[in-house]
Amino acid sequence: MRMCRFGVLVSGSGTNLQSILDDWQNGQLGAGEVAVVVSNRPRAAALERARQAGVPTAVISHRRFVDRASFELALVDKLRQQAVDWVVLAGFMRVLTPTFLRAFPGRVVNIHPGLLPAFPGLDAQTQAFDYGVKIAGCTVHLVDEGTDTGPILGQAVVEVYEDDDVERLKKRILEQEHRLYPRILRAISEGRVELEGRRARIIARE
Ligand code: GRF
Repeated sequence: MRMCRFGVLVSGSGTNLQSILDDWQNGQLGAGEVAVVVSNRPRAAALERARQAGVPTAVISHRRFVDRASFELALVDKLRQQAVDWVVLAGFMRVLTPTFLRAFPGRVVNIHPGLLPAFPGLDAQTQAFDYGVKIAGCTVHLVDEGTDTGPILGQAVVEVYEDDDVERLKKRILEQEHRLYPRILRAISEGRVELEGRRARIIARE
């Protein structure tokens, strides 16, 4: 099977990146491989995780560009240099516009720490907790021009306990993220994701 080259965009700690790297190194990422990790922040801990795994890294700081479009075109250039097939957002804290998305049509995926379509945007876990929901979770979705509005590829649920606090809830959601994201990326790499309108179907492995 042809390999599927993932380019991972990060800004922060990179625990989701780590779960992807771990699955890849354990032979659990199917036909997926991590081709490059790109950060917009030079000090992102995620960069060190990539280096430890022997993955090429790049820093492209949004501050060095006069506008969003030139920043995004620099990202596209770097990803193309590494022949990336799919772009994986893993805690990447910049909004991507059509300038970027056009370069990878239908091939940008994100993880959101909430059960979409509820609580899009920043700090979804706190939004959910403060709203008083009884179940929370995370969502892997395709990226379109809206904020967290693209077709949903997978979700995982966690219960909110009576005596919970936001920090504990965040931790349990993050544990689910680490299981969900590599599983969906594996399905993508093996061509097991089918879209009908905005309904995505993951075909089971043989
Ligand atoms: C995660 O909560 C993810 O859902 C969100 O950003 C956070 C990234 O965490 N998009 P990490 O950098 O993977 O540890």
